[in-house]
Amino acid sequence: MRPRTRTLQATLTLAVAGVLAAGMTVALAPAASAGTTLRASAAEKGRYFGAAVATGKLSTSAYTTVLNREFNSVTAENEMKWDATEPSQGRFSYTGGDRLVSHAQANGMGVRGHALLWHQQQPSWAQGLSGSALRSAAINHVTQVATHYRGKVYAWDVVNEAFADGGSGGRRDSNLQRTGNDWIEAAFRAARAADPGAKLCYNDYNTDGINAKSTGIYNMVRDFKSRGVPIDCVGFQSHLGTTLAGDYQANLQRFADLGVDVQITELDVMTGSNQANIYGAVTRACLAISRCTSITVWGVRDCDSWRGSDNALLFDCNGNKKAAYTSVLNALNAGGTSTPPPTSTPPPPTSTPPPTSPPPGTGGCSASVSLNTWSGGFVATVKVTAGANGTRGWTVSVALPGGSAVTNAWSATAAGSTGTVGFTNVDYNGQLAAGQVTEFGFQGTGAAPGATPTCTAS
Ligand code: XIL
Repeated sequence: MRPRTRTLQATLTLAVAGVLAAGMTVALAPAASAGTTLRASAAEKGRYFGAAVATGKLSTSAYTTVLNREFNSVTAENEMKWDATEPSQGRFSYTGGDRLVSHAQANGMGVRGHALLWHQQQPSWAQGLSGSALRSAAINHVTQVATHYRGKVYAWDVVNEAFADGGSGGRRDSNLQRTGNDWIEAAFRAARAADPGAKLCYNDYNTDGINAKSTGIYNMVRDFKSRGVPIDCVGFQSHLGTTLAGDYQANLQRFADLGVDVQITELDVMTGSNQANIYGAVTRACLAISRCTSITVWGVRDCDSWRGSDNALLFDCNGNKKAAYTSVLNALNAGGTSTPPPTSTPPPPTSTPPPTSPPPGTGGCSASVSLNTWSGGFVATVKVTAGANGTRGWTVSVALPGGSAVTNAWSATAAGSTGTVGFTNVDYNGQLAAGQVTEFGFQGTGAAPGATPTCTAS
């Protein structure tokens, strides 16, 4: 039944590509519809509407009846977390996650992967590690799990909840944070190398408006985009109380404006007279943003919720639709960006970029490397600076110690893996103006390179 999932994913990809190719200036008329389920209505708008699933409940028909009828995306509530997938170091267990993937494929649903690295729900062996041993174990975890699920998840929460609450706008203290501030970008790079097709997300809570925490995350995403760290999306958990911040949508929009998708990833709302309104407002906010690609609620029925007696979900414990459900469905049917027909080709660009005269090249270039090392491996980040005449392309040669090998590279193509390895620019970063800087990186096993790399411009 895999083709059904593929078709859905292809349709969504086309829809998003079409919207993006059309340019943000093109206002698409909201398409009213009369979808009768959340999944049908969301799919019409080119979005996923998902639920967190405890795989143990997949054998309960009262549960799967609602799940299969209403949702076209699933997230493992616990089964893809570190403690579940690597219970002892280097021994991986995918039983629960694989079961969910099979269910999704059989029912035309996409899968959101959750979560590769998090300070909670770590296996006890990882909790006992620190420094380079933990860094190495964490990157290996990302690589192994993302490789196992390659092609089966449309997005990954690569890093979950790394920012502190309160007014600091900074990182939360954790064993992972203590391995060095660059642990997040190292994780994203490893995830991209392992599964180039998945959207890579940063996910957090208490980010439901413009506040110190969401601004700290915003600054990180902006920095990642400027340096070429592979990040594609930001997840807003949206565990909500009895009010919704007035700038909820504006906050999503400012992230989308950085060039990342936004996703509502763990929505649940405190019961009460405002519950249905808040659900509706969150849905409208997402639909108003073409880059808001999915909404996931954190459970199916109230009694499935981690929030216990908050009755925070869309269905009561018997699977009956609540007022909040109707509010969401109406919001889905009322508006948002319409999905271009899947067969249409993307429209041509609205304006042709002015011709740029190629830089003369031959002005040389220089390269410098910064390293993260641990016993048995390393990640190298290489900065390439164009010389006086700019570059049309460049190749950086790195001499590896004997016994070391490159295992993956990003933003450059590696020729070979051992000895002296040449890294050549990819399409978008070869042409540099005089003095302009770009970065690429690679990961390797064994000892890190010691000598300064050489750069040759063309
Ligand atoms: C929760 C699950 O729902 C519970 O079953 C588990 O006991 C604890 O974790 N933020 C997250 C989710 O990113 O993974 C959490 O899920 C809820 C908070």
